Amino acid sequence: DKGNHRHFMAKEIHEQPEVISHTLANYIDMGEATVSVPDFGVDASTLSRATISACGTAYYAGLVGKYWIERYARLPVEIDVASEMRYREPPMTAGGLALFVSQSGETADTLAVLRHARAEGQRVASVVNVRTSTIARESDVALPTLAGPEIGVASTKAFTCQLSVLACLAIGLGRARGVIDREQERALVQSLVEVPRHISNILRNESQYEAIASLLSKARDVLYLGRGTSYPLALEGALKLKEISYIHAEGYAAGELKHGPIALIDENVPVIVVAPKDALFEKTVSNMQEVASRGGQIILISDADPEEVGCRVAAHIAMPKATEFASPLLYAVPVQLLAYYTAVAMGTDVDQPRNLAKSVTVE
Ligand code: F6R
Repeated sequence: DKGNHRHFMAKEIHEQPEVISHTLANYIDMGEATVSVPDFGVDASTLSRATISACGTAYYAGLVGKYWIERYARLPVEIDVASEMRYREPPMTAGGLALFVSQSGETADTLAVLRHARAEGQRVASVVNVRTSTIARESDVALPTLAGPEIGVASTKAFTCQLSVLACLAIGLGRARGVIDREQERALVQSLVEVPRHISNILRNESQYEAIASLLSKARDVLYLGRGTSYPLALEGALKLKEISYIHAEGYAAGELKHGPIALIDENVPVIVVAPKDALFEKTVSNMQEVASRGGQIILISDADPEEVGCRVAAHIAMPKATEFASPLLYAVPVQLLAYYTAVAMGTDVDQPRNLAKSVTVE
């Protein structure tokens, strides 16, 4: 049932405040503003490395998780797409933590890496939406996302729920490893608790997307740029756009622009810049100026005032002020909406894009 929505994807985008709240409530003690993550059976303080593997959107969630776990728990994280890690069969230090992210819990490549990790003596934890799935069952610890069934082939609410769990995990590991103290934990938890309200506000400003989508729908190629945790968001934005609108899109780390992709920029290439006003903002601003001086059409997604970027932007999606930690959860929403409205403008089958299956149980 799509409710009042035209597509399941729209319905699922709008469910995010609620399902993120449910997911967070599963890991957060709201009264104390602390997180509790299940015991993995490994001593977090002596852990030397974690390995993350997943596919597609779940992999991008894992990539944000890597940035968070390295930063807030000071734990080195190796990450790769499951289809590569599977055949690379990387050596893993016994007693390490292997983490998998999967909405369906049935993705063949992810499952194959899980079995490799187990053979390598890892403790296996997985962030899964389907609790009865094979990946959940074969894990030592399943960390559920409470997104509910996701019908649209393009993953939306599962992604932000995966981010919610990974954020709690980073805080939990940070505490267990003595990297963050109780006060810092409370502040991080508080910023997560505010996410559903921020997303509700973002969803109240939906009318602006149609005009931007009409610009995107005329493009042959679209670039997405971001730095830090906004880099995986750029990758996710590009994936969403290509899978449902069939427009070619690439996500790049903003700092890589001058190492190649800048050659593509002209007035026909919209460049979507995911740029919260964080510690890396000024760096991304320089990249935006490079794009603008070559005639690129910038679509800025930011809580900063567009005046601050010192160049012309074709459109600005104004974001609420949030902490640097919570921003990936918020910035996921405008990239979903841009893809959704562009697909609607193109008249494609939003919920059942061509050539794609919801669950990839064959390699
Ligand atoms: C993209 C998308 C896919 C999945 C990928 C992994 O919108 O849905 O990229 O994220 O196939 O699927 P799961 O999470 O079920 O392992």
